[in-house]
Amino acid sequence: MTEPGRLEPGAARGRGLGKLVLCGEHAVVYGHPALAVAVDRCTTVTLSRDLGAPPVEGEPRLAEALSRVVEPDVAVRIDSDLPIGRGMGSSAALAVALVRARAALQGEPPPGAEVVFERAMPVERVFHGNPSGIDVAVSSRGGLIRYQRPPGRSPTLTHLPAPRWRIVVLDSGQVGDTAELVAQVASRRPGIDDALDRIGALADHAGDCLDDLPALGALLNDNHELLRRIGVSTPDLDALVRLARDAGAYGAKLAGAGGGGVVLALVADPEPLLRLAADRGVAAFECRPAPEEPR
Ligand code: MEV
Repeated sequence: MTEPGRLEPGAARGRGLGKLVLCGEHAVVYGHPALAVAVDRCTTVTLSRDLGAPPVEGEPRLAEALSRVVEPDVAVRIDSDLPIGRGMGSSAALAVALVRARAALQGEPPPGAEVVFERAMPVERVFHGNPSGIDVAVSSRGGLIRYQRPPGRSPTLTHLPAPRWRIVVLDSGQVGDTAELVAQVASRRPGIDDALDRIGALADHAGDCLDDLPALGALLNDNHELLRRIGVSTPDLDALVRLARDAGAYGAKLAGAGGGGVVLALVADPEPLLRLAADRGVAAFECRPAPEEPR
């Protein structure tokens, strides 16, 4: 994880974890369950009133997101080892890190998970439009989570015991715009509702076979096919999924909103896939599940 260095006096810091959706993205927006796991990559935000605030450059939504949490005179430094806009929860990790850093700057005791969730969701909405909340929940709580937000109700989340999975992430190098992809999926309903129902059922089934890697891998493969069906995969992502299966992965799927971003592969041994990816010039790295955060 990132090591942003020594904390200057008067500065405050917060961290948010990255995540991978194991099963259930997009369907989770419509009340179906999904499983997501926090990973050993994160974003750290350092806030200071003493340094003067340099202008924030880059992605226009970033300035808008920061303005939801910090005053204009607060300097913001962001350190991250998460690939941005690739389905690994970079915006949720930023939101959670910002909220925690802001509480620390105000001298508040560290806010609990529910408070972090409430405060971070408006920031996440700046990037994602209509997020289900799964990314923020996992980023702030760590571990493996079954998440469900029935329409018009508060989300329910359950921590599941996270097995010692070996996960390889293959990066397409392309950015997927979650807000746009969620809107595209919405526009294809109700024609794709049967596929969304099947994704939800599959996420439930996956929760029952977390230790059975061949069975779980087969479900990941099925989930990828259904994500193709709802139109969020790309030829590059499909090729990365095939690459992972050629290297002997139990299963592989796009992870996150799609339209670019990453593929996750569940493997017995990361080396063959990492070697094959290097041979083909594909950026790849191993990700380990991050444990549940202390409450
Ligand atoms: C993004 O990680 C997961 C989506 O289902 C959007 C969301 O649930 O907010 C695509």
